[in-house]
Amino acid sequence: MFSTYIRRLSAQSTVAMACTFLASAASAQPSEPIKVGLMLPTSGTFAELGKKVANGFKLYVTENGGKLAGRTVQYVELDDESDPSKANENTNKLIKRDRVDVLVGTIHSGVAMTMARVARDTNTLMIVPNAGAAELTGSMCAPNVFRTSFSNWQPGYASGLLAARKRKTAVTISWKYAAGDESVRGFREGFEKGGGRVIKDLNLPFPNVEFQPLLTELATIKPEAAYVFVAGAGQVKFVRDYAAAGLKNSIPLYGAFITEGTLEAQGEAASGLQTALHYADGLKNAKNDAFIASHKKALNTVPDVFAVQGYDAAQLFAAGLNAVKGDTGKKAEMIKAMESAKLDSPRGPLSFSKSHNPIQDMYARVAIGKQNVMTDVIVKTLADPSLDCKL
Ligand code: PHB
Repeated sequence: MFSTYIRRLSAQSTVAMACTFLASAASAQPSEPIKVGLMLPTSGTFAELGKKVANGFKLYVTENGGKLAGRTVQYVELDDESDPSKANENTNKLIKRDRVDVLVGTIHSGVAMTMARVARDTNTLMIVPNAGAAELTGSMCAPNVFRTSFSNWQPGYASGLLAARKRKTAVTISWKYAAGDESVRGFREGFEKGGGRVIKDLNLPFPNVEFQPLLTELATIKPEAAYVFVAGAGQVKFVRDYAAAGLKNSIPLYGAFITEGTLEAQGEAASGLQTALHYADGLKNAKNDAFIASHKKALNTVPDVFAVQGYDAAQLFAAGLNAVKGDTGKKAEMIKAMESAKLDSPRGPLSFSKSHNPIQDMYARVAIGKQNVMTDVIVKTLADPSLDCKL
């Protein structure tokens, strides 16, 4: 159904582009299509996440008749493969070859850091719809870089507070890269705040899924809880391996993303797992009811946090564009409007801190059937401290 929408949309944009061409000699730039560069993974461990973010972004645009601030939207899409070694070349392609008006991406923190460096050097507007790397809204923060997802610290910290309600010792397991390290650091801070103590940090390289040696070590240490950061396709295997190793009942497992969007694939192995995140399935608010209905109608699937983050990236971009009536040349004005945007997000009210990172509620959830059901709010309006950001 969504593809029909998209087909109709591209037919519209072809017509619009032809009209633009005829009119271009006389008219100003805002009548031309606006170019959105979607740099996201469509292959590898994070492929599903990338697709969900892209679909979320497109859903908002489609709801608005295929236009933002009166301008037709044209997408330039590039598979970043979640490969940091290709990030510089890929980002430059979108900015210099394709001349996108905005860069939207990505999932992987390492790739996103390179993207942000290039975006900063070329003063290209960038919206991060997932990657949680601290630097993006910390030491590398920039007027033209925004994030609609989270900093890795936020869900990690909330997970630590959640686990500390019932457990006092924990071991962490994570992929050894920015997101894993920072997520674990956040967990430790929250867990210690709640009176807990992390005994040991275990890790493996991204995107390795040979979890068995780590699970064996965890079983020997016997902490009261375990916290894990692996994501995408890796989280499906981890949760299954954890249950198959007989650990599910003896060492309760906590995580932020570990069950997000994958409950169907994880089945019984995920049942009852507790997580902390800035969204939950079926979250009760008017915007989310409408969002779920719209997502089901367009894509025939129920949305998750990745779709929300993509949708909100489009909402944030629209807030900037509307303020300048589509004239992307007025960058400073656009940025000002984005900084003060108050978005009606499916996750609840969404605003941005000085460093351009989301200020948002963090929810405790439990996996029941195919849903991560919200039980309560762990922390309200949680902002990343972003101490290194000098904006
Ligand atoms: C990240 O690399 O920042 C990242 C990737 C996948 C997630 C969360 C964070 O689910």
